[in-house]
Order: sequence, then C-alpha cells, then structure tokens
Amino acid sequence: MASPFKSLVHDDECYDKSYAVYRMHTDAQQYREDFIRKILPDHLASIGDGKSIKIIGLGTGEGDYDIEMLSQMHLKHPGVLLDNEVVEPSALLIHKYKERAAQMFHLDPVNFTWHQMTASEFEEQWRQRNITKKVDFIHMLHMLYYVEDLGATVRFYQSLLKKNGKMLIILLSAESGWVKMWRTFYTQLSPPGTRTWFPQRNTAEIKQLLDEAGVPYQSYKVPSMLDITDCFTEGHETGELILNFITETVNFRKTAPHELREGVLRMLRDPQCSMEKNGRILFNKWEEFIIVEATD
Ligand SMILES: C[S@@+](CC[C@H](N)C(=O)[O-])C[C@H]1O[C@@H](n2cnc3c(N)ncnc32)[C@H](O)[C@@H]1O
Repeated sequence: MASPFKSLVHDDECYDKSYAVYRMHTDAQQYREDFIRKILPDHLASIGDGKSIKIIGLGTGEGDYDIEMLSQMHLKHPGVLLDNEVVEPSALLIHKYKERAAQMFHLDPVNFTWHQMTASEFEEQWRQRNITKKVDFIHMLHMLYYVEDLGATVRFYQSLLKKNGKMLIILLSAESGWVKMWRTFYTQLSPPGTRTWFPQRNTAEIKQLLDEAGVPYQSYKVPSMLDITDCFTEGHETGELILNFITETVNFRKTAPHELREGVLRMLRDPQCSMEKNGRILFNKWEEFIIVEATD
C-alpha cells in the first residue's frame, strides 16, 4: 500500500512555509547566536597559523550561522585569510548562501569553495583525491541526522583536524521532546523507503562515541523551546505548519491515520515533552553544542 506520508523535504514550498513559521515560534536561533558570539570565539582563538584558516562547513543550509561564525573568526583573527569549503546537497540552499555571502564579505574576503553534495560524497571525494591537507575548523549544525553511519562520519571528519583544530557539532540532546516523539513514532511516520534520516539521533550517541574513542570534547546544553500551543487548534494555519515541521510531513493532520495523529498530539503535550507557561504550551527542544578537539 502506498504510504500516506509525503516528506516535507520533497515539497520545497510547504517546507519553506513550515520552516518560516517554526522559526518564528522558537528561541533556538537566539541560543545558537549567543553561543557563536560569546562562547565559540574563545575556542577558536588558538586555531590557524596566523596566515590562513581552513574551514569545512557540512550541511550548511543557507549559511546564516556560517556567516556569523566567519564574522567571529574575522574578529578573532583579523587579516587572516579564511578558506571556507561549503558542503550542502541542496542547490537552492547553496544559491541562497552565495547571495548572502556576496553581500557580507566584500570587505573582509573569504575564499569560498562550493560543493553541492552530501557529507559522505565529500568524504569519498577527499579520499579519492588523497588530500593530506589538514583542517582548522569543521562544523556540522543539525546535519548528522542525515548520515547513514554516524560513527564513521564523526571519526573521518575529526581525523581531518590539525593539531589545534576544532570541530563543532550541534544536535538535539537526548532529553529533547523532539527526540522522544521520533523515538516513539519513527516506524509509523517512516514506512519503508519514505525517510532517509534519523531524527531520533542525539548528542548522547555522539558523546558515547567520543568517550569510547578517547577524543576530548566540551559540551554545552541549552533549553530551547518551541511554542506549539496552536497545534492543538484544528485548522489553525500556524499550528498545522508547526505540526508539519515537527513530524517532517506535508499536511500531517490531514494525511496521518486517526490513531497516529492523536498519539502524536498526546505525546507533544505530555510533560515528558513539553511544559505549560503563561497559558502557552512549550515543546522542549534541548540542544547540545559539542566542541570536539583534535587527537594526534
Ligand atoms: C536541519 S538543516 C540545518 C541547516 C543549518 N546547518 C542550520 O543549522 O540552520 C540540515 C541541512 O543538512 C543538509 N543535508 C541533508 N542531508 C545531508 C547530508 N547527507 N550531508 C550533508 N548535508 C545534508 C540539508 O540540505 C540541510 O541544509
């Protein structure tokens, strides 16, 4: 039987609308910007050789956080050339990133190289070309949900770091309501062949991998929230779009079987996933930022 679900990533228009509404109802951007402006610069102070800094950004989207990180890098390392490799499979998002970058870096140049491909395709290309050059800074912001082999990906990219290099990983943390919801409903929301990602993936898995491999890291957890109050009013446009985004499904309320829809809505309001404050229902997103160090 054909799956009732259409993945949001296969419908650009619905994705853009859902993502825009989601962004307006979460404080996640503020936490990420604060981290990039206030905590990351100290970690970046020791990288590079004073002449150039090599960076790889994986799953950059349209580059809003990348641009903020590049700006902070310029502040920390004035006059140093930033050599930035962008790895992003979506042509549309690369196009948007290029437009932003063109406006931002006309004074303080960054050398951009664009790769429209996945993290594993980039890895394959890197191996085939036998590149021995090492990298100062690598970042993966909410990208690791999309790789097949988490351990191999983290190990490969960490191995590219120079002695003083750093890798920034951002992912949902294990206590996030989002992770709990996907853990419970992944099979029903993902009939075979309909999803190519692992949304229940979280930082506990990354930290376990790093601990087992003896790789040093520091981590910072932030309690970001998503206002899901409108999801409980049937037909409310904002609520329907947020619901699409959380379940990563086009028209979730209309296309999901009754039992699944009720189960997801019940779980979203459950105290293990959300809290009520000033009459609003706030879905707990909890994210974690991990700064991974190089090993010799
Ligand atoms: C949740 S978005 C995060 C975007 C951006 N890093 C941010 O934090 O706003 C995930 C991004 O990863 C990209 N992506 C999906 N699969 C990927 C893969 N296998 N390798 C690299 N990037 C991937 C998507 O196109 C998207 O831009």
